[in-house]
Amino acid sequence: MNNLIRGLAAVALAGASLSLWAQRGDEHQHHHPEQPGAGQHPPPAAADTRTPVRFPEPLRTHTLANMRDHLQALGQIQEALSTGAFDRASDLAEQRLGMSSLRMHGAHEVAKYMPQGMQQAGTAMHRSASQFALVAKDASVTGDLKPALAALARLNQTCVACHAGYRLR
Ligand code: HEC
Repeated sequence: MNNLIRGLAAVALAGASLSLWAQRGDEHQHHHPEQPGAGQHPPPAAADTRTPVRFPEPLRTHTLANMRDHLQALGQIQEALSTGAFDRASDLAEQRLGMSSLRMHGAHEVAKYMPQGMQQAGTAMHRSASQFALVAKDASVTGDLKPALAALARLNQTCVACHAGYRLR
């Protein structure tokens, strides 16, 4: 399963860098119209404005493994929602991503290496996962999928927000 995720991520990344490369190629040709085939050399990396954060080694590896588990959990939640297994979606979110997961993730130990904004982003994710868990429980009574999907989108947004601001080095 982890290999599958890595594969999918690699495909997505390859797509993104291809389109970047294509754009660069256009710019390049604009400046050098006499050389239509120019652009053989790889494009310079896009500016990375994320704040680099240093975790001591075992913690860094552990954190990235947790991250991959987060992605897997999101997928399993989506799968559960698709079959109307709302209670299962709720439990997955609470146990793997929500406030109940904090101890399992060693959050306390990791938090002291995080800038404050990153800590807040982490807390926002755990909170919104627990909120999703409640909404999904409601859905098991009402049978209404829409609020659960909206809450899942808000949870996903908290992953995106932290990734936009921080990277490990
Ligand atoms: C508090 C900040 C934070 C939150 C919240 C967060 N991440 Fe991350 N995540 C990171 C950082 C930092 C990295 C490392 C990125 C880098 O160094 O380029 C990362 C990396 C990852 C990776 C790559 C793992 C690897 O092996 O390289 C995946 C997958 C991932 N996150 C998934 C998620 C998902 C899914 C969520 C939400 C459910 C999430 N993350 C929430 C900070 C966060």
